[in-house]
Parts: sequence; C-alpha cells; structure tokens
Amino acid sequence: MSAEALIDTFGRLHDNLRISVTDRCNIRCFFCMPEHPVEFVPRAEILGFEEIERFVRIAVGLGVRKLRVTGGEPLLRKDLPVLIGKLSRIEGVTDLALTTNGLLLAELARPLYEAGLRRINIHLDTLDRQRFLEITRRDELHRVLAGIDACLRIGYRPIKINAVAVKGLTEPDIVPLAHFGRRHGLEVRYIEFMPLDAQGLWRPDRVLTADQILEILGREFGPLVPVPDGDPRAPAAEYLFADGVGKIGFIGSVSRPFCLKCNRIRLTADGKLRYCLFALEETDVKGLLRSGASDETIAATIRATVRAKWLGHEISSSRFVAPPRPMYAIGG
Ligand code: 5AD
Ligand code: SF4
Repeated sequence: MSAEALIDTFGRLHDNLRISVTDRCNIRCFFCMPEHPVEFVPRAEILGFEEIERFVRIAVGLGVRKLRVTGGEPLLRKDLPVLIGKLSRIEGVTDLALTTNGLLLAELARPLYEAGLRRINIHLDTLDRQRFLEITRRDELHRVLAGIDACLRIGYRPIKINAVAVKGLTEPDIVPLAHFGRRHGLEVRYIEFMPLDAQGLWRPDRVLTADQILEILGREFGPLVPVPDGDPRAPAAEYLFADGVGKIGFIGSVSRPFCLKCNRIRLTADGKLRYCLFALEETDVKGLLRSGASDETIAATIRATVRAKWLGHEISSSRFVAPPRPMYAIGG
C-alpha cells in the first residue's frame, strides 16, 4: 500500500468509493424520497464523466480499489454504460459494482455488462404488487422483476437484492423474498430502515432489526447459520440456510452498527465528498475539479476528508442529528 493510503485517525483504511451519478429517481420509496420532490440538482451542477473519471483516478492513486456506482437511480444517467466502461478500465480498480432499483435493467443490463460490469445490487423490498405500490408510490414491480430476469440470463454474478425492512410494514415480505432468492440464486440482504428519509418519517420503533428478521426466517427455514466473515470489512452479516441452499445478509446499520470497520467514502452527484452516509459536513471537490486544481491538491483534499472522519454515527443515541441530505441526494 502506498505511503499515501487513506487511513483515518482511528486507523481505518479507506479503499472503497461510492459514486452517485444522479439524484433523480423514477420511483419514490417513502424511506428515501418525498412523494412530490423536490428540487433535483440542476444539470450543470452534476459532475461530468470526465470529472468523475479524473477524481476516481486520483482516489485510486491513494489506494481506493473498490467502486460502487449509485444514485438516486443511476440508470437514469444518460450513457451510463460509457461511464462504466471508463471506470472498469482504470488500472488498480479490483471491484466495480452498481446499485439500482432495476426498473431500467431490462434494457440496460446488456450494455452495462458489455461495458465491464459484473456485480449488481437491485433494490426490491417486496414481491407483492400492492405493497410495492405503497412503498414506492409507483406500480412498477413487473419492471424490476423483468430487470432481475435479464441480469440472471446475461450472467451477472453475484446479483444481490437490497430489501429495506420497515417494522409494521414489510414483515410479510421477509419469507417470500428469501424463497425468491433461494430459487434464483440471489443473495437477499435485508437493510434496516435508517434515518435518511426525506420526510422525517423514521423512528426507532419503525426499524425491523436483523434479530427480528432472523427470528421470522428461523420459523420458516429453521435456524440460520452465520457465515464466518469472508470479508471482515463488509457491512453485511451473512447467514446460510440450514439446508445449505442459499445465503442471506443483513445490513444492520441501526442495531448492529459497523462503523468500526468502515472503509468507505462517498462522492455525491454534485461533487461533494463525504466520509459518512450520516456526515453533517462535506468537502467540495467539484469546485476544485472546475477551477483547475492540480491532482496533488485534489489528493490532499481527499486525505484531509478522511482524516476528519468521525468514529461513527450515533443513530441510537439522543445526540443523533439526521444529515441534511436524504438518501437519494447522497447515494446509498
Ligand atoms: N434506510 C435504509 N436503506 C435505504 N435505502 C434507501 N433509503 C434507505 C433508508 N432510509 C437503500 C435502498 C437502496 C440503497 C442504496 O439504500 O435499498 O438500494
Ligand atoms: Fe429511488 Fe432508491 Fe430512493 Fe427508492 S431508495 S426512491 S429507488 S433512490
């Protein structure tokens, strides 16, 4: 690792960059967006592909190895396969993945694959058409299912399903999603509802926790078996079904925070660098990229942002302050 490696004051090595390419979305999940947004960032404020590519190259020079493209909904970004192609060709990148809501995958899975993408996470909270409509305020479940089908046929591996779990709402979806995953060889990851929604709907008692989900699954499948952590820095806690068929994961951000092993930084679509999903401060890199700053200056800014990183969010404490940007404006 280069002497420049991105190590914060708590000794955490940062080699993982999440890149949001748009804050727009074609559905309106209530735990992320308001029903009627919203001012989206004006086009001129969104980083261009060359700007993103330059930033990524500089970050890779500082030891970043893993990239994830997110949104909003990244597939709404025009010519996304062109950006994926540029990122997949950057030497030093060992892992390139995408998080999407899947609506546009039936058309775009193929060009994205051809551009070099192999790993994909698809957001799907329910297989029930009515609940899908209730959660996302759009009747689009069929398009997500068609998108998953396209990815399976094209050969994406792994395909993971991100299911946000909300107490009092998605309990009936836990088991059907697990069956769906087992049937198709998809890893379902249940994500605890985090206080990142645009309308301030989050409350501690709306979090369906990893332990509660494990209990629901245990009743259907028998006790699940923890996977000895493959990647000790991955946020998901993974479990195998007792019969050996399939795997699930939990992103237990609220009940099992993983901040101590965090290796991530985030670039927003409008060119701000964040050291945490929940950070209350951010660093402007768009201004640097657009004012002729040197690579060294940008590298120094990335290092300074990592050095300023806090130990972690305190969602479960009374001190917690939700960040000013909701999920869609940060990039999950
Ligand atoms: N809490 C937890 N997860 C969320 N996501 C969006 N909003 C929230 C929230 N409030 C998830 C979606 C998306 C991923 C980037 O973040 O599943 O796929
Ligand atoms: Fe769109 Fe994802 Fe937010 Fe849902 S969670 S509204 S799919 S950006």
